[in-house]
Amino acid sequence: MIINNKIYKYINNLIKNYEPVYLKNIKKYYNNKKNIKMMSDNLQGRFLSLISRLKNPKYILEIGTFLGYSTLCLSEGLKQNGLLITIEKNKKYIEYAKINFKTTKYNKNIKILYGNALNVIPKLKYNFDIVFIDADKKNYLNYFKLIFNKVKRNGLIICDNVLWKGNIIYNYNKDNITKSIKHFNNTIKKYKNINSIIIPIRDGLNIIIKN
Ligand SMILES: C[S@@+](CC[C@H](N)C(=O)[O-])C[C@H]1O[C@@H](n2cnc3c(N)ncnc32)[C@H](O)[C@@H]1O
Repeated sequence: MIINNKIYKYINNLIKNYEPVYLKNIKKYYNNKKNIKMMSDNLQGRFLSLISRLKNPKYILEIGTFLGYSTLCLSEGLKQNGLLITIEKNKKYIEYAKINFKTTKYNKNIKILYGNALNVIPKLKYNFDIVFIDADKKNYLNYFKLIFNKVKRNGLIICDNVLWKGNIIYNYNKDNITKSIKHFNNTIKKYKNINSIIIPIRDGLNIIIKN
């Protein structure tokens, strides 16, 4: 948690009634306490939903599905005939995600692709309005480079965990993941044709807009 725990709880308390029941159910049925932390929480989820609703995208790409929490949040803003493609390398998680999508009205708009995102992305033939990067942290820069030309002008690239529990500042030599994220953030800072801002929600979201 990047921001003060009490403030986070205060905000969460104010928005807790906004969490749709299909998202509440994801947490109810999957109870591996350690893994569940990988999933977006209500605050991050509502933020992703808000961004998507503002953008009203035709095409969204998500890298890292897990149980589909963020997938469903992002789907909430899709155009009626829009498409969200989500890539996941773990078959077990895909089975869970399918169950979670099935009961929602977004099911018809979501396509899950199985495989390593590094191999899957080059085959995609869409121009995306939003890309959400939330898979293995060491490959963030690779994902960014692979998707950049597939993002529309004024399109958004949203990257999760860019503050990595604060290690990025307090403990930046801690491990290879911290080093990768730091390298990613520094590279993005120098990138041309974009503007970016890190929002300290949960583990840090970098919102990048393509000019
Ligand atoms: C942090 S979780 C995603 C959480 C989800 N986006 C959410 O907020 O609810 C990361 C997911 O990325 C998947 N993943 C990791 N490396 C991957 C890769 N190279 N290709 C595809 N999926 C990958 C993991 O299996 C895991 O399910």
